[in-house]
Amino acid sequence: MMLKDKVAVIYGAGGGIGGAVARAFASEGARLFLTGRSRAPVEVVAREVARAGGSAEAAKVDAVDEQAVDGHLQSVIDKAGRVDISFNAVGIPNTKIVGVPLVELDVEQFSLPITAYTTSYFLTARLAARRMIPNNSGVIMTVTALHSRIGIPSVGGYGPAQAAKEALTRDLSAELAPLGIRVVGLRPQGMPETRTIKEAYEPRAKASGLTWEQWQGLLASRTHSRRLMTLEEMANMAVFMASDKASGMTGTTVNLTMGSMDD
Ligand SMILES: NC(=O)c1ccc[n+]([C@@H]2O[C@H](COP(=O)([O-])OP(=O)(O)OC[C@H]3O[C@@H](n4cnc5c(N)ncnc54)[C@H](OP(=O)(O)O)[C@@H]3O)[C@@H](O)[C@H]2O)c1
Repeated sequence: MMLKDKVAVIYGAGGGIGGAVARAFASEGARLFLTGRSRAPVEVVAREVARAGGSAEAAKVDAVDEQAVDGHLQSVIDKAGRVDISFNAVGIPNTKIVGVPLVELDVEQFSLPITAYTTSYFLTARLAARRMIPNNSGVIMTVTALHSRIGIPSVGGYGPAQAAKEALTRDLSAELAPLGIRVVGLRPQGMPETRTIKEAYEPRAKASGLTWEQWQGLLASRTHSRRLMTLEEMANMAVFMASDKASGMTGTTVNLTMGSMDD
């Protein structure tokens, strides 16, 4: 098992990516502390993990609330003695932030994703790092999107938010890797199984006169493998990157766009 007895905290664990990463981490032996802004979806994932024989506890933690994140991490230390992996899979609904051209976008809507994504990643990383530094060991991870690197219309502050997270991954690593802590991001292509991608792209498909299925085909045609990635494939990569097998990887965001975007 690649993550046997590793203690992992996942933020946004009730979401598509957070839930998939939780299931994959558990199947590789990690002890999970799952969190989300609402407790109910996180509990669903925790129960699923437990039914499959894994270990998971659910908690309600708002990942932009410093006291809530800190208090929860302290409870993890009290129960498990350490934190080995911090995975930030927080996502805010695209319906609130995309779909308006930049020239028509108001400043609040523009700033919302930038503030929420960067604050949440900064807080969860910083507070986990403080617990990892005494052990000279740990892995801090998050997920971004290809909007960090290419121009896409009508996505408001989402692209700048993803680019900022990738910059933070590099900067955190520059400070923490000398202390034994790796910092690695994952940048997947859109995964059509997730609610997020459907919400973000279905209106654009309609506006272009395409069905949702035709739109997926268009996205898939841009990848080398002519298909889109599954949640399970993304989660398998998360397992590898969180494991000691990836000890040579830090300060980078792994390109999981299946050839649709060059490094
Ligand atoms: N889905 C994809 O194919 C894909 C591809 C590339 C990148 N991404 C990025 O990956 C991230 C996650 O995507 P996803 O598809 O898993 O989204 P999702 O299903 O909407 O999950 C996001 C989760 O984050 C939680 N959350 C939001 N604000 C929070 C906060 N302040 N504190 C704690 N939890 C909070 C949400 O809880 P509530 O529902 O209670 O608000 C939800 O459970 C996003 O940044 C997304 O843009 C997604």
